[in-house]
Amino acid sequence: MIPEGLSHRATPLVDVYDRPLKSLRLSVTDRCNLRCKYCMPEEDYAWLPRETLLTFEEIHQLVGIFTEVGIDKIRLTGGEPLLRRNLPALVRMLSQHAGIKEIALTTNGVLLEEQAQSLFEAGLHRVTVSLDTLRPERFRALTRRDTYDRVLAGIDMVRKVGFPSLKLDTVAIKGFNDDELVDLVEYGKRIQAEVRFIEYMDVGGANEWSLDQVLSKAEILAALGCVYGPIEPVRENSSAPAQRFRLPDGTVFGIIPSTTTPFCATCDRSRLTADGMWYLCLYAKQGIDLREPLRLGALDEVRARIRQGWQMRTDRGAEERKALEQASARMRFIAIEKLRQDPHLEMHARGG
Ligand code: GTP
Ligand code: 5AD
Ligand code: SF4
Repeated sequence: MIPEGLSHRATPLVDVYDRPLKSLRLSVTDRCNLRCKYCMPEEDYAWLPRETLLTFEEIHQLVGIFTEVGIDKIRLTGGEPLLRRNLPALVRMLSQHAGIKEIALTTNGVLLEEQAQSLFEAGLHRVTVSLDTLRPERFRALTRRDTYDRVLAGIDMVRKVGFPSLKLDTVAIKGFNDDELVDLVEYGKRIQAEVRFIEYMDVGGANEWSLDQVLSKAEILAALGCVYGPIEPVRENSSAPAQRFRLPDGTVFGIIPSTTTPFCATCDRSRLTADGMWYLCLYAKQGIDLREPLRLGALDEVRARIRQGWQMRTDRGAEERKALEQASARMRFIAIEKLRQDPHLEMHARGG
């Protein structure tokens, strides 16, 4: 049931809290070639069945429908999106949609050296690479893989190919990389990339998240302030999760404080899993099945599910998680047994 008064709004679509639907995070695979402790600590997971994965044509068709209701920004994620065979072909298809202003990619960088050129030629606009440490032995301990050099080579290639901007995402974790903040900022300066520190989030459940591992925005600013001097916020009006700051020498970096300062109030994003389940929040426990009506050719039903789903949206997952802190009740988000039954619940299935 759509609440009274919400059913006949014209596009652009807004939710119960008046938040527009603007950005779609498209997970193209739930598989990954790393096993980062904070995201995919187990070696094996219950993977999405192959026959349920949307084809490129199906994704293309769905994105077309999403543009009708206001989506103008696509971010390709995973798992690791570069594991999906022939991703540049999908980028080329999506860039044909007149309503899409921007196609971005979030990747761990391992396969980027080989693919950066063809992704650029296919029409990809922006790349964000996850890089949590500059120390090869730490990288190995964190990811349980030995591909640190390939990530750096991938980052170099993004620069060579000519992408106009590059962001590096670092999950800041106490006792793991809190002594590398300055090194990462300096590395970003050297290669002209914008570094963003992400507060460790309690998404999924296989990771061993605990509040005492979260390096907060305030702590990050204090640590960098000690070395660089006064840090100023960059004034801008945006719904992006990153707050940006400027060092005295002009260097800009970001902090994504999802854990201590959730940005749910302005959240305009939703997520589509590789098998066509649509999630209205990173923390949502249930998704909306778009694959079923799509495969039946019932495109009006797809439209109806999208409209009704967003109009009824009340999600503010990160704010609700934060509220638990006052009651000292913030612990593992989803029990392991539940995760084994439904692979969609992990972050790697719904795009980081
Ligand atoms: P741009 O600002 O356009 O570069 O996009 P972005 O910041 O959304 O991109 P990115 O994929 O790099 O996201 C950075 C991190 O922000 C993710 O890895 C998550 O940790 C966090 N994040 C992204 N989306 C959400 C969200 O919807 N909710 C919350 N709470 N955190 C998010
Ligand atoms: N907390 C914060 N960020 C996370 N990511 C994955 N898991 C977490 C988490 N628990 C980030 C990755 C990457 C993006 C895809 O999601 O570091 O930058
Ligand atoms: Fe948006 Fe949910 Fe993330 Fe809040 S927790 S910012 S509502 S996706």
